[in-house]
Amino acid sequence: MFKNFWYAVEFSEDLPAGTPKKVKLLGQQLVIYRKSSDNSVVAMSDLCVHRGAALSGGSVKDDCIVCPYHGWEYEPDGAVRKIPAHPDKGIPRKARIDSYPVQEKYRFIWIYMGDLPEAERPPIPDWSAIDDTETYRAVSGSFLWKSNYERILENGVDVAHTPFVHGGVFGNPEKPEVPEFEVEESEWHCKVSVKLNPPRSKGIWGWINPNKQDLKDRPQVPVSTTWWLPNMILLEVDTPMGAMKIFDVNIPIDEETTLVKFIALRTFFKGKWADRDARRRVFKVLYEDEAVVNAVRPELLPFDLSAELHVKSDYNAVLYRRRRQELIDKGWSVEGNTIVGEGPARVEARVIPS
Ligand code: FES
Ligand code: CO
Repeated sequence: MFKNFWYAVEFSEDLPAGTPKKVKLLGQQLVIYRKSSDNSVVAMSDLCVHRGAALSGGSVKDDCIVCPYHGWEYEPDGAVRKIPAHPDKGIPRKARIDSYPVQEKYRFIWIYMGDLPEAERPPIPDWSAIDDTETYRAVSGSFLWKSNYERILENGVDVAHTPFVHGGVFGNPEKPEVPEFEVEESEWHCKVSVKLNPPRSKGIWGWINPNKQDLKDRPQVPVSTTWWLPNMILLEVDTPMGAMKIFDVNIPIDEETTLVKFIALRTFFKGKWADRDARRRVFKVLYEDEAVVNAVRPELLPFDLSAELHVKSDYNAVLYRRRRQELIDKGWSVEGNTIVGEGPARVEARVIPS
């Protein structure tokens, strides 16, 4: 797992004012809450320096968070401002916990746990389509997955698996060839664009086909998949009905547990029934992927580039592994504790109110 990146940890809409919330990232437990003064988000270690209580079980008072155990009050920068048992004594200098930079962008709360100065931090990618509620209708959801986030990321950008794992939804197992594809890449991302064969069965085509066109005459479907280091994905599909974009963060809770949060946008079918349907389809695809990815060995992505066999259609995965090696060489890799105990809900989904 890597420090020095911004990580989305929660949907903005899921952090109401006044209620602290526990989130888990990179093997650490954090608390997030909104300041009373300006509603901005604070992120801190979820461990009270006094007796180790979880601050996420406490309350928000002014801009501070109050520990549920003995009521110590923490400023947003992590410093204790009040010890109620001894109001007349000074505050010990060591009475502080780590506090982390936060941004709210594209309906996500992003936390920075690295050590680079602001100007040198890798950017949050441009996901402004999420804010374009004129053009798109959105559904969001969460999916807790017992697999390593890098295995999940590679799966998410891999077009060669779709005819086999998702043959009913997209891709055609009788025509599984991956045609020539275009690549766009930078230091932080890689986008592959390709025209895939339409699904064999009626599948999604029956749903989106505007003119009840003959199944044989279905056009190829322009698809692109993009990864951004270290854990973000965008899947774009140009259906005959309009555009579909699925933004997806694979939050590394620890090495073996990943919380996937997605926002799926589409330009077509703006009705409520279609929201239910869109969610159902995203979860169907996730369950299909999960069955295969959970059984992949080794569980973690190999560090040795020659450890698995690569073919041309693995281009973006190979690039991901190269870039990841560069991060390791830069010393950005961190080992996380395994987090035990109660996790977030297994599956959650809702329509984002626009
Ligand atoms: Fe937090 Fe005592 S454990 S105030
Ligand atoms: Co898949």
